[in-house]
Amino acid sequence: MTEVVSVTRFEDRVAAGQLRVGVIGLGYAGLPLAMAFAEAGFDVSGIDLDAERVRAIGERRSYLVDVPAERYAGLAGTLAASADYDGVGDLDAMTICVPTPLSKTRTPDLTYIVSAAQSVAAQLRPGQLVVLQSTTHPGTTEEIVLPILEEQGGKVGQDFFLGYAPERVDPGNHRFTLRSTPRVVAGVTAECRRRVELLYRQVVDTVIPVSSTMVAETAKLHENTFRAVNIALANELALMCDRLGISSWEVIDAAATKPFAFLPHYPGPGLGGDCIPVVPHFLAWRLREYGYTSVLIDAAHEINAQMPMYVTQKVADALNDAGKPVKGSRLLLLGLAYKADVHDTRESPSLEILRQLRARGADIRYCDPWVPEMDFDGERYESVDFIPEEVEAADCVVVLTAHEAFMERPLWLVAKQVVDTRNVVPDAPGVWRI
Ligand SMILES: NC(=O)c1ccc[n+]([C@@H]2O[C@H](COP(=O)([O-])OP(=O)(O)OC[C@H]3O[C@@H](n4cnc5c(N)ncnc54)[C@H](O)[C@@H]3O)[C@@H](O)[C@H]2O)c1
Repeated sequence: MTEVVSVTRFEDRVAAGQLRVGVIGLGYAGLPLAMAFAEAGFDVSGIDLDAERVRAIGERRSYLVDVPAERYAGLAGTLAASADYDGVGDLDAMTICVPTPLSKTRTPDLTYIVSAAQSVAAQLRPGQLVVLQSTTHPGTTEEIVLPILEEQGGKVGQDFFLGYAPERVDPGNHRFTLRSTPRVVAGVTAECRRRVELLYRQVVDTVIPVSSTMVAETAKLHENTFRAVNIALANELALMCDRLGISSWEVIDAAATKPFAFLPHYPGPGLGGDCIPVVPHFLAWRLREYGYTSVLIDAAHEINAQMPMYVTQKVADALNDAGKPVKGSRLLLLGLAYKADVHDTRESPSLEILRQLRARGADIRYCDPWVPEMDFDGERYESVDFIPEEVEAADCVVVLTAHEAFMERPLWLVAKQVVDTRNVVPDAPGVWRI
């Protein structure tokens, strides 16, 4: 490694909007960031192994709810995408936003991070800043990414710079955007952190530096664990209120009138998305190495994981009440996406509910304006229209996702039986709530 871009030069380039920024992994986390840098006037190179995503960007097409095609018209800089790493040597700074799934045994799979880091390392040039943004277990930046980059012979904080800046995107959330959501950042050295801060200040209003990459990694895991545990608390309340014969929703709303020290969370059909159901296990997994067993994370997982079975049982109860078995009954599932007004079905509890009801022999249709078709468990499914005929023909309608399109047309009023997992259907005979 020879010439290093000095911090002054780095700052000058940022100030002049000349910093060349790379975003590796153009999914829910990476693409909005790439867009934000391009909107702020930088020349951005996106890299993604998925040729279809690269093509979509080249053709200015939208494939994510947060990045509609119109946003391409507002770029002050440029956004190009490629399926290879050839241009990495020309970048000044790059962020790695690749997936970090969990195996079936709840072990973190860091192969995407390792592969991306190796591809970057092969082209690493003096002065470059690399920022890991994927959600991962504590220690990943310095124990896994750093050694890969150092194999090139450079020294971190001098020859190249490395940091961590966890993603907080909430797809579909228009209130808290990438810019208005504060960003925690960290660097392996003080100089690394300074550069990470400078980079993110270009696209985020509030940047929060912390003392180490491990603090930043763990803060991200704690945020998601907080949600998983609180949702589990609400779900367990629902299970208890069911036995008491009262509404958990009414209980929570009553409790939420306390103006301090209470943050309402609500029950639902189970956890979904690729964050909340997955991320707490990164923490639990890493801590096992330290001989520590996380009690709350495991307990929350158990409660949340039983919700699809609970919903399935509610459907069976509703049908039973009408003198029908699950087998052969016609069901209409409303919503496959894991939350309202997004396309994402990753880890969606609707899928597990569909699987369980199908295993019991139900005749299932689904309606989801955000998921027009889907291959699942070897079957091809297509969304039916949200029309009175479909609702009336169903022996039971199961409300799983409160999409706006459903809220605007409360067709469940004509349903024979409704199981409502989102508390959106008014009380009436034949309405069952979790
Ligand atoms: N989706 C969210 O709401 C969200 C929120 C916070 C954090 N995160 C985290 O952000 C990270 C990315 O998640 P996502 O939802 O954007 O995933 P995603 O699957 O939508 O996108 C990741 C992209 O990375 C690409 N990719 C995989 N390996 C690659 C490689 N070696 N080089 C280049 N591209 C590669 C994939 O083709 C894919 O397009 C994960 O760690 C996730 O936990 C996601």
